[in-house]
Amino acid sequence: MSEFRLDELSASNIVAANSLTLKPGQEQFIAPVSYSVAGAFINPSTSWSRVVLDAEDRVVGFIMGNFDPESRHEEFRSCIWRINVEADQQSRGVGRFAVLSLAEEARSRGFKRVTVIWEPGDDGPGAFFTRVGFKTVGETEYGETIGAMEL
Ligand SMILES: CC(C)(COP(=O)(O)OP(=O)(O)OC[C@H]1O[C@@H](n2cnc3c(N)ncnc32)[C@H](O)[C@@H]1OP(=O)(O)O)[C@@H](O)C(=O)NCCC(=O)NCCS
Repeated sequence: MSEFRLDELSASNIVAANSLTLKPGQEQFIAPVSYSVAGAFINPSTSWSRVVLDAEDRVVGFIMGNFDPESRHEEFRSCIWRINVEADQQSRGVGRFAVLSLAEEARSRGFKRVTVIWEPGDDGPGAFFTRVGFKTVGETEYGETIGAMEL
């Protein structure tokens, strides 16, 4: 059994979720430009947000996805929109657990793939996404990498 579990974002954990810290140098990777631009057009009713709790019920991560089969943009139909693991809890498998949980949610909704967009760079999440199963399938107009995981 995993030492982590998901919980819905709620009044009792939203402050902790908003207080998750980043390692120095990671700030610039948290919100790729494509997501900031598209954010204005994303319907909040299609988003899916969860916190990751550890065995002591501490919030150690946050993941947000978008599931919208009607989206005009293929890369926003079943995608990871945000993922952040508490700085001193990174490299313990929290991120992988969050991604695989989102992939399971996508599968249960009938999607065949999950996509994610990231900024390339040494302190960025590219190596993580590749390690957990994403393959590069394209590039955005802003030079970001588009990755996809087949389900
Ligand atoms: C990217 C992030 C979510 C990864 O979370 P994490 O909990 O540290 O990742 P995990 O411990 O689950 O790592 C899973 C695998 O990826 C590898 N990995 C993780 N980060 C890596 C990195 N920077 N470089 C190389 N490999 C990495 C791990 O070694 C592990 O490999 P394994 O298969 O050998 O065990 C976390 O670093 C983070 O919050 N970054 C800042 C926010 C961010 O950039 N979000 C992405 C926005 S698009």
